[in-house]
Amino acid sequence: MDNLIIETRQLTKVYGEQTAVNKVNLHVQKGRIYGLLGRNGAGKTTIMKMILGLTSVTAGEVDVFGQNIKGNEKRIYPRIGAIIETPGFYPNLTGAENLEIFAKLRGTSNPNAIKNALEVVGLPYKDKKIFSKYSLGMKQRLGIANAILHDPELLILDEPINGLDPIGIAEVRKFIRDLCVEQGKTVLISSHILSEIALLADDIGIIHNGILLEESSLKELQKKNSKYILLQVSDTAKATLILERKFHIKEYSVQDTHTLHLYDTALDIGEINKALMLENISVTGSQFCNDTLEDYFKKVTGGKGIA
Ligand SMILES: Nc1ncnc2c1ncn2[C@@H]1O[C@H](COP(=O)(O)OP(=O)(O)OP(=O)(O)O)[C@@H](O)[C@H]1O
Ligand SMILES: [Mg+2]
Repeated sequence: MDNLIIETRQLTKVYGEQTAVNKVNLHVQKGRIYGLLGRNGAGKTTIMKMILGLTSVTAGEVDVFGQNIKGNEKRIYPRIGAIIETPGFYPNLTGAENLEIFAKLRGTSNPNAIKNALEVVGLPYKDKKIFSKYSLGMKQRLGIANAILHDPELLILDEPINGLDPIGIAEVRKFIRDLCVEQGKTVLISSHILSEIALLADDIGIIHNGILLEESSLKELQKKNSKYILLQVSDTAKATLILERKFHIKEYSVQDTHTLHLYDTALDIGEINKALMLENISVTGSQFCNDTLEDYFKKVTGGKGIA
């Protein structure tokens, strides 16, 4: 994989007796949206905090922009925008006033930075409403505006869609995608909601009990969940020989000694059953399947599911 913006190697965090993050090798590519998907307590926030230097690393390494974070903090962190948990805004100031403070702290020189950031997240610039009167969704948006204020190349957003209504979620999804497509930004985003990640991310990492179970592009994942015919037979080795020789079937996978998946769903199952029986292979079941991503995640996370 070329052009890695974040790479972790064997990244590990131990809290007392508990290994919250266990030897994680994460690969976030330039200009892409990487969705870190996992249930509550999976280790998403801890990974992000370690990347951002907000908590110590027990073992392993983190590279950001091709440099190890150790010793390069001053070069790396100004190029990142992040929301981890709720940012501390002043309750008695408006959104724009809050952002002015953060802009000054960060030395943001662009005079239009605040206006631009608020526009991206869909908050009014000239609004008298103070932060304490904001709805949860508005607070979330201001958090994102704050993260993009200094025009960072990399955004690390921990569950940015929590608390948003469905329209808000769609809007946030759109502007995150625009930041990526139009401005070439790289995004690492976490969520425990599979459908959200599936609609937004280019690449997905599934984290479960601190372990990165799978890392792949959404396209690859979707391929694994195509339609297929599930065939249960007494002997898959013999059955595949017949399928290949007699029916010229090549698009299949052997799941275990008794289960086959045939990916050409236009096949005549009756004919196949007959041919197999003639060869003394008993067919104990056949059915059309259409696995969803949800089914897949349930499978990889040990049957418990994600969302
Ligand atoms: N400061 C801490 N001290 C001790 N244990 C912690 C600490 N922070 C997190 N943990 C534990 O580490 C594990 C991973 O937590 P983490 O917050 O990274 O999960 P998460 O995937 O972000 O979950 P959520 O979806 O609930 O935000 C959890 O079991 C949590 O209890
Ligand atoms: Mg978390």
